[in-house]
Amino acid sequence: MSGQEWWKRAVIYQIYPRSFQDADGDGIGDLAGIAQRLDYLSWLGVDAIWISPFYTSPMKDFGYDIQDYRDVDPIFGTLADFDALAARARALGLKLILDFVPNHTSDRHPWFLESRQSPASAKRDWYIWRDPAADGGPPTNWLAEFGGSAWEYDEASGQYYYHAFLKEQPDLNWRNPEVRAAMYDAMRFWLERGVDGFRVDVMWHLIKDDQFRDNPPNPARPPNAGPANALIPLYTADRPEVHDIVREMRAVVDAYPERVLIGEIWLPTDRLVTYYGHDLRGAHLPFNFQLIGAAWDAGVIKEIVGDYEKALPRGGWPNWVMGNHDKGRIASRLGPRQARLAMLLLLTLRGTPTLYYGDEIAMRDVPIPPDRVCDPYEKNVPGLGLGRDPQRTPMQWEDAPQAGFTRASRSWLPIAADASTVNVAAQRAAPASMLTLVHRLIALRKAEAALTIGDYGALDAPERVVMFLRRVPGRRLLIALNLGESAQSLSLPGDSRQATTLLSTDPERPLGDLAPAFTLGGGEGIVVLLADRETAPPSPAA
Ligand code: GLC
Ligand code: MG
Repeated sequence: MSGQEWWKRAVIYQIYPRSFQDADGDGIGDLAGIAQRLDYLSWLGVDAIWISPFYTSPMKDFGYDIQDYRDVDPIFGTLADFDALAARARALGLKLILDFVPNHTSDRHPWFLESRQSPASAKRDWYIWRDPAADGGPPTNWLAEFGGSAWEYDEASGQYYYHAFLKEQPDLNWRNPEVRAAMYDAMRFWLERGVDGFRVDVMWHLIKDDQFRDNPPNPARPPNAGPANALIPLYTADRPEVHDIVREMRAVVDAYPERVLIGEIWLPTDRLVTYYGHDLRGAHLPFNFQLIGAAWDAGVIKEIVGDYEKALPRGGWPNWVMGNHDKGRIASRLGPRQARLAMLLLLTLRGTPTLYYGDEIAMRDVPIPPDRVCDPYEKNVPGLGLGRDPQRTPMQWEDAPQAGFTRASRSWLPIAADASTVNVAAQRAAPASMLTLVHRLIALRKAEAALTIGDYGALDAPERVVMFLRRVPGRRLLIALNLGESAQSLSLPGDSRQATTLLSTDPERPLGDLAPAFTLGGGEGIVVLLADRETAPPSPAA
């Protein structure tokens, strides 16, 4: 039976370590701070935490530029702090997933310093060095995600090196077997320390074209997309050879029992699912971001879910992500009422959900004054709304100075203006809060096998309503979400006579018996237990 592996039943919670809890009073979150807050996560009911990078780093991209894969940056603490955090997590039954960033290192990494020294360096080929084009310019037209050419000229050697992100994040050359071996060793370092898996950063970027062909122009450049979208990344990402690497990474992870390999992959569904790999020997969970950028429209959502379910390879386990440190927050995208529906959807669809810290209390994007901007994306490409600081602000714990995040007088990013009311302490005590809803949803997911390992079946529904079934033998749950603002009349599927409302996003709705014809309020979502005709208990009259 499927569903034995822990990560199939798990709810994953993403922590951005700079912003979760500051223990040492420097205004920046740290590992000791996370350890202090694990009891909260245990109460919330999540099963696993994924922590964004905390390795030694010059912090040009806030930890996604790694200088030492085997140590903790002093800002975040020490390896001893990590071990203490891991031990505490283990004691609480929480799995621990690390962020692994294999595509690029920091330009301060000893490997790159050595590589840069001269074209004759033993590590030259660990990175991607090329001679200039005939006109002396960059070797190809490839663009960096954070703006400008992806090639940086090195005066000393007269060559360019490639960087898909910042120039301080040179790409490793994954065609070099020594690079592969060194990176797999770095993974083993953490596996030996007991981590339960990795979220692999930009997995689909790892290999670039060996013929260095120019990328074609993008005729359908989406509005408000980053500057790199001017080209189609045909030769810089999602190359066929990437799957060999993913397979090797999987083998590294599989040498240890019960570990999970997750890939960050921004691709359309048909390409995304190829990352499960031939014979499912690739990523266990290629992150599915299809709902993050999607219009909040019932037809669109139904199509996304249906296409994804259809595209999954046999035995491939689904997953859903609705928010992360790179995208605007759900509550800002959708508004307070629909954000509750988003949580219902995330936690009732078939597949492992990943919840971004703060979304469980409906934190919103925080406006960042110009003098407080930290994100290099915003600094390089200002004013387009691409900056990621707004969704990375400190967790709002309580109505206290700095929302209880730090004892410092100032946090690295501003605290939300509404933190005195939108915070964990206030919402834990409030039956109608987002936190209470998310807590209940997670508990329901745990109690109902249909919600974790059950089948998914779409149901026809009026415009603006998403309706589906989750089902294990003998138990069927109906989930209905009204994305519209006005109430909708609905009826239970034809073969069910009796139904019980288990949960509603509307705190006013009474739980319990639900009539076969019922009304769903504007912006309301419900989870209903259906008593099937064949399994319904005999009625007293019979
Ligand atoms: C991933 C990370 C993002 C980072 C980039 C470069 O997309 O999620 O935060 O800036 O990779 O490492
Ligand atoms: Mg700190």
